[in-house]
Amino acid sequence: MREVEDRFSPVHDRLFETRRRRTGRMIAYRAFAVSVFGCICWILFYRVTVPVENRTGLVMLILEIWFGLYWVIRQSLRWNPVWRYTFTDKLSLRYKKDLPRLDVFVCTADPVIEPPLMVVNTVLSVLALDYPPEKLAVYLSDDGGSELTFYALTEAVEFAKIWVPFCKRVNVEPRSPAAYLSSKANSGFDSAEEEEVAKLYKEMAVRIESASKLEEARLNYSDGFSQWDSDATGRNHGTILQILVDGREENEKGIPTLVYLSREKRPEHHHHYKAGSMNALLRVSSKITCGRFILNLDCDMYSNNSKSALDALCILLDEKEGKKIAFVQFPQWFENSTRNDLYGSMMRVIANVEFNGLDGNGGPFYIGTGCFHRRDVICGRNYGEEEEESQKVQEVLELEKIKPLASCTYEEGSQWGKEMGLKYGCPVEDVITGLAIQCGGWKSAYLNPKQQAFLGVAPTNLHQMLVQQRRWSEGDFQIFLSEYSPVWYGQGKISLGLILGYCGYCLWAPSAVPVAIYSVLTALCLLKGIPLFPKVSSLWFIPFGYVTVVVNAYSLVDFLWCGGTFRGWWNEERMWLYRRTSSFIFGFMDTILKKLGVSESAFVITAKVGEEEAAERYEKEVMEFGVESPMFLLLGTLGMLNLFCFAAAVLRLMTSRDGGELQKMGLQLVITGVLVVINWPLYEGMLLRKDKGKMPISVTVKSVVLALSACTCIVFL
Ligand SMILES: *[C@@H]1O[C@H](CO)[C@@H](O)[C@H](O)[C@H]1NC(C)=O
Ligand SMILES: *[C@@H]1O[C@H](CO)[C@@H](O)[C@H](O)[C@H]1NC(C)=O
Repeated sequence: MREVEDRFSPVHDRLFETRRRRTGRMIAYRAFAVSVFGCICWILFYRVTVPVENRTGLVMLILEIWFGLYWVIRQSLRWNPVWRYTFTDKLSLRYKKDLPRLDVFVCTADPVIEPPLMVVNTVLSVLALDYPPEKLAVYLSDDGGSELTFYALTEAVEFAKIWVPFCKRVNVEPRSPAAYLSSKANSGFDSAEEEEVAKLYKEMAVRIESASKLEEARLNYSDGFSQWDSDATGRNHGTILQILVDGREENEKGIPTLVYLSREKRPEHHHHYKAGSMNALLRVSSKITCGRFILNLDCDMYSNNSKSALDALCILLDEKEGKKIAFVQFPQWFENSTRNDLYGSMMRVIANVEFNGLDGNGGPFYIGTGCFHRRDVICGRNYGEEEEESQKVQEVLELEKIKPLASCTYEEGSQWGKEMGLKYGCPVEDVITGLAIQCGGWKSAYLNPKQQAFLGVAPTNLHQMLVQQRRWSEGDFQIFLSEYSPVWYGQGKISLGLILGYCGYCLWAPSAVPVAIYSVLTALCLLKGIPLFPKVSSLWFIPFGYVTVVVNAYSLVDFLWCGGTFRGWWNEERMWLYRRTSSFIFGFMDTILKKLGVSESAFVITAKVGEEEAAERYEKEVMEFGVESPMFLLLGTLGMLNLFCFAAAVLRLMTSRDGGELQKMGLQLVITGVLVVINWPLYEGMLLRKDKGKMPISVTVKSVVLALSACTCIVFL
């Protein structure tokens, strides 16, 4: 009912509205949360008051205190969610052609991992955004310094002359040519014109791909390529800057400005990864178009919704609330997921529930892609200071004067990377930057329209996924331990709910340790016959049973509500376990070692393409192992340990006459049993499969040996 009332309330002046959860749902959720909290207290009370003969009771108490605390912390993500809805028609009416300048920054780093054709599709999709072309500019930052990427971009310019007008005339959606034309592959083309466009696209794709093979791009084009020295490499070259289209004035072609930048790289200078390239883009673009707003995109995230810029501006330009909002974040959504999302890569619940929760507490994180910023805020304007009149853009562009802004030495002795631009020194520079902005008093907003704004490519195998999660968990935990820790840095500056929200993510890495101990302990004690939980028939069992059943049922309902399938939820549960018992453990250890000065972590780009057979397995949702990885060794060992302990316990129960045993070990048996079932694809990969994606033999053997030794030790100790 609330929702209906809200929709018709007279808020005509606003460019967007904010809705809260309906009262009934709110009460239901909070009642659920309170009941779980009550049970957590009950469990802790049991651990403290009921004596056990050995030390396991103490360990369980510590673990359960942690789980309880972490659960409370994470409630901040669900307590008070909000949803934003925009009125783009009003915006268009109000501003017509007077919309502010918008600069789009697309970042790419490696022409092999991120194929130029994919980058070109992303660029074309934003060139065709529903926005006045003379107000829009697209900057491609190529940290690979690749002639191939540059060549692909010159091809894109030619194709854009056909594509952009076509999109606007026919109202094409989505505006990435590859995505649009592949959606037409089954239904057939609507017109001869469309067929012609498809043909031109294919020809361009062929040229780009054959150039990738020949590496002779330089021969075909001369303009701009002269900036590559003969000895230039990806890691060692001068600044390369080329304005491929200058669309700052209205022109008949209607194509926005397009700029290629590869900042100077020298081996002796630290380049600060993506944050460094963003900062170079900020400076260079300030001399060319100087957009008041900036959209930051990864090169694999094409625009799937041509209205997204208007959506974001509805929030940022809103007269009443917009002035407080520094950035608008869209979800990181993926297209390449299979139906049941084997690797949990969609992160549905994060995108559809948790980020709305953060928004209710003051605003989502900045996650480094799909985010609209105010230029002056990211460059250091403080909350409360008036926005300056936008700088006049320069009439004549002298590239040689702009290039030094992207040199290695420009930032020396400046505030770049500290008070200005994106912050340096952390693998998740984006999150810290967002936090610092919020701590300055700004809010942020989360927009999650039905038709997803941007679509990226999800990791398509287990190892990629685990590596990506390892990096995230490590980066977030580093924030927690750094001077920018939300706990002390955010204290008094952002709401408690938001501090807890940040902690929920920053504590991913350390949360792995108790989960791993819990699963090992449960299994080993089951093997040895030591009960860890109260008897099934006792009153004390109630809170354990309740929490186990209700929390899982809730997570299932949540997942289905977010558009997932039952199998998808089951896969998600598996990935929940795998992330904790591999990625996060390594993330935790890496961070600690780094703090102690032992090792340097390296930034790993997750590969975006896979081999053909692997792609087939991915389509069929067969889990991909295939590489020898210490993370797989850990997963394998834990999986085998659970299997052995469960099998031994079942055997013992079947042979013993004592019915009390089942009573005592009931919950432990269930937990270990569920772990065995959830690990099924792992056992298949280790023992049954023959294809290339199975677990390498060496990992299997080591896992079995390690698990058997652990079991033997426990039994004879
Ligand atoms: C992407 O856009 C198309 C329409 O252009 C839409 O049908 C599709 O549902 C969108 N994808 C997602 C994931 O929202
Ligand atoms: C990823 O998506 C593209 C385009 O939608 C498709 O052609 C490709 O087969 C997909 N790859 C996998 C591994 O699903």
